[in-house]
Amino acid sequence: MTNENYVSKTVASLPPSGIRKFFDLAANMEGVVSLGVGEPDFVTSWSVREAAIHSLEEGRTSYTANAGLLELRTEIAGYMEQAFNVSYQPEHQILVTVGASEGIDLALRSIINPGEEVLVVSPCFVSYAPLVTMAGGVPKIIHTTGENQFKLTPAELEEAITPNTKAMIICSPNNPTGTQLNKEELIKIAEIIKKNDLLVIADEIYAELAYDETFTSFASVGDMINRTILINGFSKSFAMTGWRLGFVCAPREILEAMLKLHQYTMMCAPTMAQYGALEALKHGWDDVEDMRTSYRQRRNYIVKSFNEIGLTCHNPGGAFYAFPSIAKTGLSSQKFAEKLLLEERVAVVPGDVFGESGEGYIRCSYASSLVQLQEAVKRIARFMKNYQ
Ligand SMILES: Cc1ncc(COP(=O)(O)O)c(C=O)c1O
Repeated sequence: MTNENYVSKTVASLPPSGIRKFFDLAANMEGVVSLGVGEPDFVTSWSVREAAIHSLEEGRTSYTANAGLLELRTEIAGYMEQAFNVSYQPEHQILVTVGASEGIDLALRSIINPGEEVLVVSPCFVSYAPLVTMAGGVPKIIHTTGENQFKLTPAELEEAITPNTKAMIICSPNNPTGTQLNKEELIKIAEIIKKNDLLVIADEIYAELAYDETFTSFASVGDMINRTILINGFSKSFAMTGWRLGFVCAPREILEAMLKLHQYTMMCAPTMAQYGALEALKHGWDDVEDMRTSYRQRRNYIVKSFNEIGLTCHNPGGAFYAFPSIAKTGLSSQKFAEKLLLEERVAVVPGDVFGESGEGYIRCSYASSLVQLQEAVKRIARFMKNYQ
């Protein structure tokens, strides 16, 4: 018996993240321009770093309340109210988590009974389906298409629902497509959710990175606040990926269930990170605006460039990903990404790692400097000459 045999069947059945596989390859090469990573190229604002340092200087090195510093939860409640017009009680409806990642995991584990189905709108963030499986549920994939800018339609949603369906995970603006759903679209989806008595896990981690249309929180639509587990965090909007800090807002009974899991597994989110986050919410908004302006400029540049090169690309409304079609080359997403890396040293992520519906596309993160983006475009244009 090898040690492999000790690994649980559920874990053994999960595929490794396709993103990492590709990066391990790129990491060993010289001169690679990377459009691969899904994280800001900005460093966290100095005042936020300073607040964390200051908390250490003051010796605040112990656990906080399991749900997070009440002061931080109160600030989060204020932000949710002001930015998205939704009211949550800091004492009972907000939980500070170790990144949005923990929030998604807790949400799933606190609602799923064995065998219940969770709808996953694909292409999507790589962790959704595996986390559903790990929670004992069954991920049911809803495929969206490039022709419709990867927007979930009410008909697609309706068709996927069965008597076993418990919830849906939705992410807008989306990773990897950048697609943002507007208020009217969310209203139509909400009607179906309500009619079928489902819950929604709304991953709104990119809420602050919306470039054209005003962002609408799912929880603000109709009475969806009672059916929504809202996931958000500091990683993307405040350039704080390494701080591992997110938060969840949810109906009280669900939040209490999540808190139970959180207190047995994490106890609380890191204390110094919570002090940093408090400063970010209080005084970090000018920096968020600057970063958003910069991403918008980069988005405009890269989408225009891709379309000029012959890589058809819809205009993504938010996040920091472009998702161009590579259909013209006749290559699979994996082959395209591999050839591009080997021949031109540009790292992108093959679209199929985000689900089958991403096949024929590549994800390009534009959270890179304009100079880097220009270099990447130059190299991709040269690569595409082989496919004219
Ligand atoms: C859609 C989405 N949700 C959640 C996360 C994880 O965020 P965090 O760093 O806060 O765990 C990511 C990170 O890439 C993401 O793209």
